[in-house]
Amino acid sequence: MAELMTGLKRSHYCGELRGTEIGKEVTVCGWVQRQRDLGQLIFIDLRDRTGLIQLAFDDHTDRAVFDKAFAARAEFVLAAKGVVRERSSKNPELPTGDIEMEVTDLRVLAKAETPPFEIVEDSNVKEDTRLKYRYLDLRRPDMQEKIIGRHKIVKVAHDYFDQNGFIEIETPNLIKSTPEGARDYLVPSRVFPGEFFALPQSPQLLKQLLMLSGFDRYMQIARCFRDEDLRADRQPEFTQIDLEMSFVDQDDVMAIGEGFMKKVYKEVLDIDIETPFRRMTWHEAMDRFGSDKPDLRFGMELTDLSDCVRNTEFKVFAGALAGGGSVRGINLKGKAEALSRKEIDKLTEWIKAYGAKGLAWTRLAEKETSSYEKFLSADEVAAIRSTMGAEPGDVLLLVASDENAVVYSSLGALRCNLAARFDLIDTSKPCLLWITDFPMFEYSKEDNRWVAMHHPFTMPRPEDIEKLNTNPGEVCAVAYDMVLNGNEVGGGSIRINDPELQEKMFEALGFTPEEAQKRFGFLINAFRYGAPPHGGMAFGLDRLVMLMLGCDSIREVIAFPKVASSSDLMMEAPAGVDAKQLEELGISIGNPQEQA
Ligand code: AMO
Repeated sequence: MAELMTGLKRSHYCGELRGTEIGKEVTVCGWVQRQRDLGQLIFIDLRDRTGLIQLAFDDHTDRAVFDKAFAARAEFVLAAKGVVRERSSKNPELPTGDIEMEVTDLRVLAKAETPPFEIVEDSNVKEDTRLKYRYLDLRRPDMQEKIIGRHKIVKVAHDYFDQNGFIEIETPNLIKSTPEGARDYLVPSRVFPGEFFALPQSPQLLKQLLMLSGFDRYMQIARCFRDEDLRADRQPEFTQIDLEMSFVDQDDVMAIGEGFMKKVYKEVLDIDIETPFRRMTWHEAMDRFGSDKPDLRFGMELTDLSDCVRNTEFKVFAGALAGGGSVRGINLKGKAEALSRKEIDKLTEWIKAYGAKGLAWTRLAEKETSSYEKFLSADEVAAIRSTMGAEPGDVLLLVASDENAVVYSSLGALRCNLAARFDLIDTSKPCLLWITDFPMFEYSKEDNRWVAMHHPFTMPRPEDIEKLNTNPGEVCAVAYDMVLNGNEVGGGSIRINDPELQEKMFEALGFTPEEAQKRFGFLINAFRYGAPPHGGMAFGLDRLVMLMLGCDSIREVIAFPKVASSSDLMMEAPAGVDAKQLEELGISIGNPQEQA
């Protein structure tokens, strides 16, 4: 039978005890990290979220207490009362290493089976096992540090936005489907069979309506749901620090966002961040770095080589240019000997995932080799080399495609891959910038129409409004993303607050007035009642925590994350439900195996 805490009250956390407590009677509670039985002497390291304390039992210890210590095993839950004393052999590795507790009362509050992995820092356990037993994984000190780090970041967010006059308002999670690019998670309605709620991809429209209601400055730590393909920096269910402001322009929102980053870095990591951040237009970012979230902690910029090969007879380059695309490259300086032919071949395969058909390369090693120079004239080769500033020892890596987007995304990814591989990234301080002037639309080949790059409620640049219906590809949005170390940590925009302009926008996106009214009628109608100019942004909290705490995956900073298949390994969700539940919802399911 497990014992109770009756008569005992925790006086200290394990890791907080110090030499100043010597001679005092204290009570601690926690889990057994390790029990060492030396015959006449037993030591137990007791762990709680603050650290470890050594409990000591010897021949002066009450027999019943000694016997309990003898029987204790790893992960048993104990409460121990005793007197703090100096240790005979000190452990300088441990903050509590100078002292131990001479135990007078010990309660076994719960026994424990041997856990599937040892509860220690950085244990080398498969992630699936860790996630199946997440409650045990979260006992590990490094995981506790991350989750507590996340709490501190959220606390700063609450404080900062409160100090700046923001009002925290909760918005519902059962809403109408609002498109933001990803697939919605749907929730069937029991009361209205055949109809569905959607879980919010973000509180976008609701926070805009709050501006219309006059709240002026809103914030929320908001849970968002997106049914999209997962990566290391994406979860189907994630958290935003969401904000919206009235009577502002882009600079005001950016200043608030910068102020938050400055405060959170200072308070959580004691790092000073300079504001205002650097700004770069979307076009410049794509041209120079092949990415709308460029990592500026290293160089290796893209070079446009199209003019060097404008009249070439080499079909791969000529075809790309004739198709309206480009030939661009990056110069990996001084690594010709370090990057072998075999590795280039591997990269050539790897880059195909970004749509590139291949990689053209020149290695200026002692013996120069190239995959494409033999197809070019001497002048063309010379032009490429000089445009790229090529020197002996360099590797030139080129991509040609009739789609500029493919050239950008493949070279942009290659640039980051090589920088990581050759350790070219200056990690001494965080690198923050804004990307501005995003295109309003991108063309969706799949849907055969223009779709909003940010969302349909974003204000076009005033000078571009007349191009909305004539030349949508050239319209820029008053939208901005915040980039931290090559990751998009936040994004926002100034919104449309004029119902006529909003209708024009829906038209540009290919909605008929009836469709627009059906889907967004509540918003269009609301805007007829006096909508102030407004704008805002949202930080991806999970990403921000991941980057601030130096983790490789967003899963490390979420208490109960999902895996790449969007499932929860611990709860085993999703899962089937009772026939009765389905019946109540008016849902019938065919043969799931057949459907799969
Ligand atoms: P956006 O879609 O850019 O904007 O999202 C804002 C930020 O949220 C983070 N994020 C994610 N994090 C984890 N997993 C995901 N699946 C995921 N998707 C996005 C990113 C991103 O920068 N309503 C607008 C904001 C606005 O305009 O005010 C919005 O949601 O860090």
